[in-house]
Amino acid sequence: MNDLGPVLPANWYLLGLARDLAAGAIISGTIGDRDLVLYRGRQGGAPVALAAHCAHMGCHLGGGVVQGEALRCPLHYRLIGPDGRFAGGKDRPLQQPSYPLREFMGGLFVYLGDPATAPDLDQFGIAGNAVCYAGEHDFPIPWQWLVANGLDIEHLAAVHDRQLLDPPSLEIQGSDQLTVRYRTRPQKAGISDLIMARLAKDGVHGTIRTLRGSMILVETRVGQRQTFILMSFCPQGSGGTRIRGLVGVRGPDTVLNRIYARIARTLFKSFLYKDLGVLERIAWHGPTQVDGLGDEFMQQICAFFRSLPHA
Ligand code: FES
Ligand SMILES: [Fe+2]
Repeated sequence: MNDLGPVLPANWYLLGLARDLAAGAIISGTIGDRDLVLYRGRQGGAPVALAAHCAHMGCHLGGGVVQGEALRCPLHYRLIGPDGRFAGGKDRPLQQPSYPLREFMGGLFVYLGDPATAPDLDQFGIAGNAVCYAGEHDFPIPWQWLVANGLDIEHLAAVHDRQLLDPPSLEIQGSDQLTVRYRTRPQKAGISDLIMARLAKDGVHGTIRTLRGSMILVETRVGQRQTFILMSFCPQGSGGTRIRGLVGVRGPDTVLNRIYARIARTLFKSFLYKDLGVLERIAWHGPTQVDGLGDEFMQQICAFFRSLPHA
């Protein structure tokens, strides 16, 4: 924990793309202080997430081999089943820690925390739409500073040249979700702003929802078209954050909608790149002067972060 809540909140984390984990493949990843391996059995069934270091004598399982539905450790060749149970050991088999893993919208999401309290990703209501991978980006700052920036209403005008058309709203749903809604109009004449301004006659309707802090869903309605970006903020051991994202367009997964999703990715990225310069050497903290709705929201956002459970 720090003064903005858990360093590693209990949450789902996007580790990569499901298509990159073929039958028999193993990939490694780290989130916070957790080293993980993901593998898929030879039959191509559901993928499995295990702690990366073998419970027997600590070897990293990323160098192992998938055998049937089990993972063979490269050091003493012991076999670990998809439930983490070692073969053998008579009546007291060793147990490798395992983690809930979900394929969701083409991504591989691993849950860190008490599995009994894992929120349902389907509550986002975005499954089944056309999506593409937004890639990943490393920032040398904690996840809270990045997510707070994403929810910062006041910076929309200052950094993103967006004029707020109505007073924005903030809503906290239980201990899992916080939602900010706003309507803006692009002001400056960058190419992406011009496109947005042309498409958005009644303004850009935006909703930013954070799930457990370290994941945010930004939904945008421009005219009739609804797009979204789901961003997972994966804490790194260095204290920094790796952001991975999926961009999507509401509608069936057709070739045309996939093309729209790629256009939406370009627009989202050009929007987000405006944050890079200002976030580079930031030493973020909550507002020390409360002057307007943006500051009031930020105080609630900080309190929400502090209420989150640690993984
Ligand atoms: S360290 Fe893995 S089987 Fe011994
Ligand atoms: Fe921003």
